Formats: sequence, C-alpha cells, structure tokens
Amino acid sequence: MSAARTLHLGAFMRPVSIHTGAWRYPGAAPDANFNFPLLRHFAQRLEAAKFDAFFMADHLAVLNMPVDALKRSHTVTSFEPFTLLSALAAVTSRIGLVATASTTFDEPYHVARRFASLDHISEGRAGWNIVTTANPDAALNFGYDDEIDHDARYVRAREFYDVVTGLWDSFADDAFVREVESGIYFDPAKLHVLAHKGASLSVRGPLNIARPVQGWPVIVQAGASEAGRQLAAATAEVIFGAEQTLAGAQAFYADITRRMIENGRDPDHLKILPAAFVVVGDTIEQAQAKRDHLDSLVHYDSGIHSLSGTLGHDVSGYDPDGPLPDIPETNASKSARERVIAVARHKNLTIRELAARVGSYSGLAFVGTPSSIADEMEEWLKTRGSDGFNIMFPYLPAGLDDFVDRVVPELQRRGIFRTEYEGTTLRDHLGLPRPANRFFAD
Ligand SMILES: Cc1cc2nc3c(=O)[nH]c(=O)nc-3n(C[C@H](O)[C@H](O)[C@H](O)COP(=O)(O)O)c2cc1C
Repeated sequence: MSAARTLHLGAFMRPVSIHTGAWRYPGAAPDANFNFPLLRHFAQRLEAAKFDAFFMADHLAVLNMPVDALKRSHTVTSFEPFTLLSALAAVTSRIGLVATASTTFDEPYHVARRFASLDHISEGRAGWNIVTTANPDAALNFGYDDEIDHDARYVRAREFYDVVTGLWDSFADDAFVREVESGIYFDPAKLHVLAHKGASLSVRGPLNIARPVQGWPVIVQAGASEAGRQLAAATAEVIFGAEQTLAGAQAFYADITRRMIENGRDPDHLKILPAAFVVVGDTIEQAQAKRDHLDSLVHYDSGIHSLSGTLGHDVSGYDPDGPLPDIPETNASKSARERVIAVARHKNLTIRELAARVGSYSGLAFVGTPSSIADEMEEWLKTRGSDGFNIMFPYLPAGLDDFVDRVVPELQRRGIFRTEYEGTTLRDHLGLPRPANRFFAD
C-alpha cells in the first residue's frame, strides 16, 4: 500500500493578496508588494511553516482596466518574479520558488536560461508557471497591435515547452569534468545541440548553462480551457486550479487524470492545487465578519472594471441593477469568463452584485476556524478534489500569520501536512521524479 496522501501548499504571493481591498484592511502593510524586507519575512515564515512553494504570478502589463479602477488597486504592480525570487533564494534554504513566464511574449532561450539559473542559485527549488498570457494589453507592450488568438497561443506554448526542456538537456548531468590537469572543462561528447526548427520557433542551442539541479525546474500550469487542459495533461507537474466547488474540482481532477493516462503519464506525477482564499477567525461568524469588512473596502469602480476584464467585454455601460446580458465569445481567458457567467445565471445576480463579487474575490474561499478550515481541506484531499492548495491570504501580515500559526498546526496535528521537509528540492517536496535527460542516458 502506498503512503497516505498529504497536502501540498503553495503560497500565492503576487500580489501578496489577490483581494482588491487587502491593502486597506486595518493593520495591513499597504506597500507589501514592494517592501523587500517584508517579503523576505513572509518567505521565511512560510518556509518555517513547511510550505512547498512561494509563487509569483506575473502580468506583462498593468491590468487592463480604466484608471478609475486601477488607481484603487494594489494588485496592478509588483516586482518582476525572477529578480525577487533570486533575492529570496539567498535568504531561504528549502521553500520552492515558482516564477511565471509567458510563452507568448518571451523567447525560449531567455526562459530556459532564467529558470536554469534560478534552479542553480536556489540549489534545486525553481518552478516554472507556464502561462500564455490572457491579458490583451500585454500584446501592446511587445510590438503587436492586437491581442493574439487563444488557440494560437497554446500551439506556440506546446512547442515552446519542448524547446525549453530540450535546452535544459543541452548538457549531460556529468558533462562538466573540469579536469585542471588536462585542461578539459567539459566533455564535448556530453553536449547536445538542439537545432530546433518548428512551426513557431527556431532555436539552435545549446544552452550556455549546466543542466539544472532538478534536471528540469518543476513545470506548473493554470490553464483550464480545452487547450489549457491538454497542455497540462501532457506536460504539467503541478496545476494551479481555479475550481470553486468540491464537485467541480473532483470532475476537473478526474478529467486531468484521464487525460494524463491517455498521454501515457503516471497520474501521481501531477499535483493539483486549487487557489484557495483563507480567512481565519475564532468562530465562523468572526471569520465571516472579517471577510465582509474586507469586501466592503472595494469600490464599485474597481468591481465593474474587473468584471469587464474577466468577461473580455466592457459591461460598464449596462444598467448596474439589471441582469448580465449575453456576452460575446472573446479571446481572453475562456474558463474564467465562463465561470463568471455561470455564477451570474445560477444566482440570478445583477451586474452590480456580480461586480462586487468579481471585484473583491469570487473564487474558492475557506472562511472559518482553524478546525473548520482543516475539515474542508481534509475533505478535498481525501475525496480527490485536490492534492493541496495554493493559498491566497486575505491581507498581510495578519492573514498570513493566522494561517501559519493556527491552520498549519491543525493540519499537522491531523497528520495531513508535513512537520519537516522530505528533502531539499521542490521536486522532493512534491514527490516528483527528476526527469531523465532525453539526449543522454543516466
Ligand atoms: C492560480 C492561478 C494563477 C495564475 N497566474 C497567472 C499569471 O501569473 N499570469 C497569467 O498571465 N495568467 C495566470 N493565470 C491564468 C492562467 O494561466 C490561464 O490563462 C487561465 O486560467 C485561463 O485558462 P485558459 O488560458 O486555458 O483559458 C493564473 C490562473 C490561476 C488559476
């Protein structure tokens, strides 16, 4: 019998809280996204609590909403992930460091180099969140006049993944012999030139960096559309899910498992971690009161424009107190758009009510006591809704402290979360194998 499954926990740290009201919450640090001493403190606290990873999302534009909404949001700006995670690598020793990089607006040679470097600097703790970048404004920052088609982004993403992983395999693990006596630095028989020429990319190689400590940094994804699921089932080792109900998450888990088997992959080699917003109180009522107060700090101007952004369609001109009209198909994130439309229809919400939800935070939330939160997490784990969670803190530092000081010990007491790291690399924490070099037998 295999050992009982336990939770894996990521910390969603860009922005430090996803909630638009977070920076205004009593006691919160309004400048936390740009306060390195504070970010260092958070990373060290999360490591002491044995979190699997510190995760930096990334957006290649300020979020696409008008300035009346932008001016109210702490979520629009934050550090570039590699710069921050390289600095954090030096002041932590175990916690995984997951950066987001875009397959649409970056080049595979750049991406392969950055992750290989972060993996070496952190001694095997890097992960790559592969995104195709749904924000249409990003295109305008990279020489395009218009956004790039959803399916075309995913076709390039697949080829991009093949190139980046191929570049990481440029050198055999033992290529660098560094024989001082003979003067041979590396063995040329252990160097592979990728020479890739495909539909979207042309990259000769080899990479000018030794093979990463983990072989390949851990491959993370969050796409939920048909194309996103296919790419994830073929390549991902962690999925940051966005399912909002246990039943939805179980269906997603089963769907990804089926697709992995079809791809000839072992389903144990992928961990599904839905994003979960966690508000901790002494009682469920107190936790709910905290959440209500937080939500009340979000202005309608923010809400309506977040809603337009998520739908990929400007809804600010419609009657705020009327129902959501039919929204045309768009090129933005399909799954997020469909989720919002489904909630509006299901709960019969007006545009104002829907905007209040989307503008604050409308995804999966556990709001309760350490024990009720642990109950829910345990149920998700045991019924295969997930393998853990990507935790979103409601406000910081207090929301992070509450989770680390109160929820983590409860999970540990129940034996469903580690009390010590299993090893030194992010792969060790996640129980993922180190990939063989595809060009050199071990
Ligand atoms: C937890 C989570 C984190 C994400 N982080 C990013 C990010 O940092 N940058 C980005 O462009 N998209 C990010 N996304 C969006 C996804 O990459 C993806 O585009 C989205 O889930 C829609 O899926 P689809 O592209 O398959 O339609 C994130 C999604 C989730 C659920």
